[in-house]
Order: sequence, then C-alpha cells, then structure tokens
Amino acid sequence: MTENSTLIDWFRASTSYINAHRGKVFVVLLSGEALEDDNLAKIIDDLSLLHSLGAKLVLVHGARPQISKALAATGKELRYHRNLRITETDCMATVRETVGDLSYWLDGLLSMGTANSPMHGAQLRLIRGNFVTAKPVGIHDGIDFHYTGKVRKIHAQAIQKQLDEGNLVLLSNLGYSLTGEVFNLSAEEIATEAAIALNAEKLLLLLPTAGVLDSDGQQLPSLNEQDAVANMERLQQFDDEQSSCIAQALSAALHAYRHGVHRTHLISFKDNGALLQELFTREGNGSLLSSDSFDLLRNAQVADVPGILNLIKPLEDNGTLVERSRERLENEIENFKLIELEGSIIACAALYPISEDAAELACIAIHPNYQKQKLGSRLLQSLESEARSNGVKSLFVLTTVTSHWFIEHGFVESSPEALPETRQKLYNFQRNSKVLCKPLG
Ligand SMILES: CC(C)(COP(=O)(O)OP(=O)(O)OC[C@H]1O[C@@H](n2cnc3c(N)ncnc32)[C@H](O)[C@@H]1OP(=O)(O)O)[C@@H](O)C(=O)NCCC(=O)NCCS
Repeated sequence: MTENSTLIDWFRASTSYINAHRGKVFVVLLSGEALEDDNLAKIIDDLSLLHSLGAKLVLVHGARPQISKALAATGKELRYHRNLRITETDCMATVRETVGDLSYWLDGLLSMGTANSPMHGAQLRLIRGNFVTAKPVGIHDGIDFHYTGKVRKIHAQAIQKQLDEGNLVLLSNLGYSLTGEVFNLSAEEIATEAAIALNAEKLLLLLPTAGVLDSDGQQLPSLNEQDAVANMERLQQFDDEQSSCIAQALSAALHAYRHGVHRTHLISFKDNGALLQELFTREGNGSLLSSDSFDLLRNAQVADVPGILNLIKPLEDNGTLVERSRERLENEIENFKLIELEGSIIACAALYPISEDAAELACIAIHPNYQKQKLGSRLLQSLESEARSNGVKSLFVLTTVTSHWFIEHGFVESSPEALPETRQKLYNFQRNSKVLCKPLG
C-alpha cells in the first residue's frame, strides 16, 4: 500500500513535467564514455520513454574512447595540440569505421521492441543524415589539424522537419564538408550547436558524476552563469579525466546558455534513472544551468494549492512554518505569490493585511534545491512593493529560525506588543516567535 501510494503520488506529481516537456526539443549528448557504461541500456529505455511522452529528441553520440582504442589496435594514436585532437589522413578510415559501427549499434538498440522490454510498442523511428556541415579546424601554431573539423552549419530546418514528423534524430561526431570530405568533430560541439540552431528547450549532457559537484563533493542542483564559470575554472586546474570531462561539459553548457539555450542539465550516465528523476521530479538528480527562475514570479491561484502544500509540508513538519490546512490555503490563496519552474512551484510567500497600514509577511519558503539564488530576496522585494502600493507603513514578520535573514533584509527586532491589536490576540506564546518589523518608507 505504502509503495503503491508512493508510486501513485510520484506519478501524479510528474504530470506537470509531462505536460511541460510535450512537443519540446531536447538535445541529448551521449559521450563515447556513456556508450561504454553498463547503464546505457537503461538510458536508452528512458530516452524511448521520453520520446513516447512527446519530447522531440535529437541524440548526439561521441566516440572518443572507441576511436582511441581502435587506433591503438592499428598501432596509431591521435596526437593533441591545445587540447584538441589532430586527425591525420591515415587515421580517418579507422575514425569513420568506428563511428559508423557505433551509429549502427545505436540504431539497433533504439529499434528494440520485444514484448518484455520497456520499449515494447514504442515504434521509435530513427533518422540519420548529413545534418551537420563541417569545416576544417585548419592550421594553428604551424600545426595542421588535418581531418579534425568544426561545425560550419547545423541544418536545423531539416532536423526540425524530422522531429515534427515524430522521428528521433541521431547525429554522430562526424560532419561533412561542402567539398565532400568527412571530418572528425567534437560531439559536445555538435550537441551544443544543434541545441542553439534548433532553439532547443533543453540540452542534456550525460556525465560520469551526479552533475556538478562543489569542492566538498556536494552536488550543485542548480547553477547560474557565475556558478558555472567558477566551477569550470576550478575544475580546469585539475588534470584528472573526470574533472576535465565536467569542465568541458560546463564550457559547452555556458556556450549554449550564452546563445539562448535556457536550460542545460548535467546528469549522471552511471546512475540508473537519473535522467527521469532530473526531468520529472522537482528534486532532480543532476545540475541545471538555467536563466529562467527569476522570470516566473506570479500571483498564486487555487490550482496552485497542491504545489504550495508540497513545498511547505517539510517546513511545517520541522516546525519552521505554522501548519496550514488545504482549506485555509484555498481561502487565503490570493495573499500568496510564487515562483514556478517548469510547471513546478519552487518558492512561495504570502502577504496578509493586518490593519490599515500594517501587513504581515508569512509562509516564505524556497525549495532547498533553489535556495541561495536570491529567490527569497526577490519574493520579499515583490511583496514589499505590493505592500507599499497598498499603503502599508509597517511590514511585520514572525519567525523562529530565520530572524537573521530578515534582519539582513532591513527588518528590525520588535515585540508582540508592537503588532496591531487584532494580530496580538492571535500571537502564539507557546511558539514564542520573534517579531520583526520593517518600516516601509
Ligand atoms: C530563508 C529563505 C527564505 C531564504 O531564501 P533564499 O532564496 O535562499 O535567500 P537568498 O538567496 O536571498 O539569501 C541567501 C542567504 O541567506 C542565508 N540564510 C538562509 N537561511 C538563513 C537563516 N535562517 N538565517 C540566516 N541566514 C540565512 C543563506 O545562508 C545565504 O547567505 P549567503 O548568501 O551569505 O550564503 C530560505 O532559506 C527558506 O526557504 N528557508 C526555509 C523556510 C524559512 O525559514 N522561512 C522563513 C519562515 S518565517
């Protein structure tokens, strides 16, 4: 029963995400390392599920470790200059063969549909083609990069047409020049440029770690541009493979971000279900570089009540917030403002008038994944300006554990006696909250 109700709750809670993702373009980077991981079969199942739920998917696969191994087997190796590989003419046959093999192998995996597989009935149609025009990297510092290429153009319209017809598009790290040659490109660059050219809703980069970890090894669920730059620069100082892989992913994410891709998720390819958890739960399971959380501040409506209850329940349980029943919340909903991200409520706060020129700020809550991004300050600012325009001169707040945060935002310590009489009567002496007040000039 408990397991069932957890599943049912989870399924219900995912509805807003299913609706938000339907019809949106997601570009997914499957690095060569991800293709070698034991979890790949699960990732393929999850991508197929995502496709079934209406997301338009462009998969971009890399082949770096596979190419290195194939070249080593023939006694050759890729040389590097400025961290960029040099693809000499005599390596290209092996590169083409290796990438071609991987693409066909992925075609096969994505075509599975046996009765006992989660892809049964999915009927996924996969399209590959010459969607990427490449140009040579050229000669730098006197070093010729030969068949190492760069993206010249992504044929976004042609890809979009396939997506609109319900097909999934698979791109590899190879591109084709107008002179008819094949070039070896970085899959990160193709994924990033494809996301930009397609104006994708999301770029999903699959990594060997659970997103971006800070210097203490703690996962960073959400990043703004400055966080992403700081972590990229920190990781660039290390020369282990994992740090450079994440630094590279952050660099790709930043490039996409600066060219209009508003959400890049960095998700583990090793963790079973991480992709679904990141995309269909508020808690997520990776790191999200995004620009949009500040844009979605709005007044709450009755339909938001379940989302607000979800957000504040843990804070009511630990005593930080006073308990509110669903009925009370429904009655008081017009006092609330919230911040929504992808259909999910990540922050809320309320403003209650308590006399002609006094109001109380209450129930301010930011989901733990989104704290320290100034969402609290932003909500406070918005409610303060609403209070001002309603003629409020004194803004009160009652708090047990957050007084310092309010003091840092211009509140000063006050006392229950300073509250307007009607509110004084309701003061809960057992709770013994501190009363703070901010004069609104
Ligand atoms: C308090 C809260 C609303 C702040 O929201 P936020 O979006 O994280 O706030 P901001 O980004 O504007 O500010 C973050 C800063 O406040 C600090 N802060 C958070 N909670 C604090 C507290 N209880 N006391 C003092 N400082 C606090 C953070 O450490 C951070 O400081 P830093 O920037 O120096 O690292 C949020 O932490 C929250 O929802 N807390 C739980 C609910 C709660 O306490 N509500 C108040 C009930 S009256």
